[in-house]
Amino acid sequence: MISEFRVLNWRSFERARLFFDRKNLLVGVNGSGKSNLLEALGFLGLLRSFRTARINELVRHEANSFHLRGVWQESGSQSTLEVAVSNSNERLLTVNGGRERSGRDFIRHYFPVIFAPEDMEIVCGAPGVRRRFFDMVACQLSAGYVNILHDYLSALKLRNMLLKSPRKADPAKLEIYEELMAESAAELTLRRSKFIEEFNRMLAAIAPENKETVSVEYHPQCSDGAAAYAEAFARSRRREMEKRTTLTGCHLDDYRFFLGKQAMRGFASNGQNRMAALNSKLAASRMLMQNHGAEKLVALIDDVTGELDQRHQAMFFDTIAPAGQMFFTCTSIPDGGFFKDAKVHNLPL
Ligand SMILES: Nc1ncnc2c1ncn2[C@@H]1O[C@H](COP(=O)(O)OP(=O)(O)OP(=O)(O)O)[C@@H](O)[C@H]1O
Ligand SMILES: [Mg+2]
Repeated sequence: MISEFRVLNWRSFERARLFFDRKNLLVGVNGSGKSNLLEALGFLGLLRSFRTARINELVRHEANSFHLRGVWQESGSQSTLEVAVSNSNERLLTVNGGRERSGRDFIRHYFPVIFAPEDMEIVCGAPGVRRRFFDMVACQLSAGYVNILHDYLSALKLRNMLLKSPRKADPAKLEIYEELMAESAAELTLRRSKFIEEFNRMLAAIAPENKETVSVEYHPQCSDGAAAYAEAFARSRRREMEKRTTLTGCHLDDYRFFLGKQAMRGFASNGQNRMAALNSKLAASRMLMQNHGAEKLVALIDDVTGELDQRHQAMFFDTIAPAGQMFFTCTSIPDGGFFKDAKVHNLPL
């Protein structure tokens, strides 16, 4: 668990130092910084925010960079994790004082999962929200997935740079990137299919009593291997040279949520969307606990349990209880035995 946490110039916090227990309650009025603190705990674990991709939103107004430092304790060992990021996106990572060049190992110390009201967007929002969610969980589950996704996105970025350059792109050069992309796209598609199969098994196990189960369908752009991807890239090359961007590939894959046999987007009620999103986060948490051990899961729960009826609350707490560490935000200390042994942190600090 994160035993000690320091923030400097993060969102509304100028400087803060907190000591955490396994179960923590962040209590404060609206706007007191509860979500900001959860976001910081998530950032140190994942090197990205759950709320924004723009670093300058995370840096406190009037400052130029933020700094987060956490002491991660795990059965007998301890690591001090630090990340500093400037408005110009320069990033410095250190583990126990030593510089880490890449984030790939850094993000494997602990695995944060956030539960937040915005999660509903995973089910009913734009396809990009679903892609980001499933990619994030797949990356947390497997370092191999991180590497393949990185290879694919790097080749895609270079191909797009070529398409966007003022001089007309050379088709032979585009083809070089297409070959690289085709290999990693085929591998990604395979891994995504397997991941969604496993995810669906987990989803069904989360709420086995439900008459209609929530499930996810994966719709890749192409499912017949690297050669088929290479052909698809070649086919759309001319149009892409006109549009100056890559219009096919697994950065555009689609995922669809179903309730029973019915597609949820545009049909399901708010409550059904909310429940499907919550169950998806619980399924992800269970997969992470199975893969890496419960100790490594840090559950960040932002304002969601209050919306659940008693049965769903009990199910939620049962599933999340084994997590290595838990943080709950609330405006006043909730009733109920579950929070009896929680450490209370009052905000603003
Ligand atoms: N980069 C920033 N610099 C300074 N202040 C910021 C920055 N980003 C957000 N804030 C401030 O942080 C506050 C919001 O904090 P946060 O979202 O954590 O509140 P909260 O306690 O979760 O509230 P609620 O109960 O309404 O969800 C707002 O007052 C906002 O102006
Ligand atoms: Mg909040």
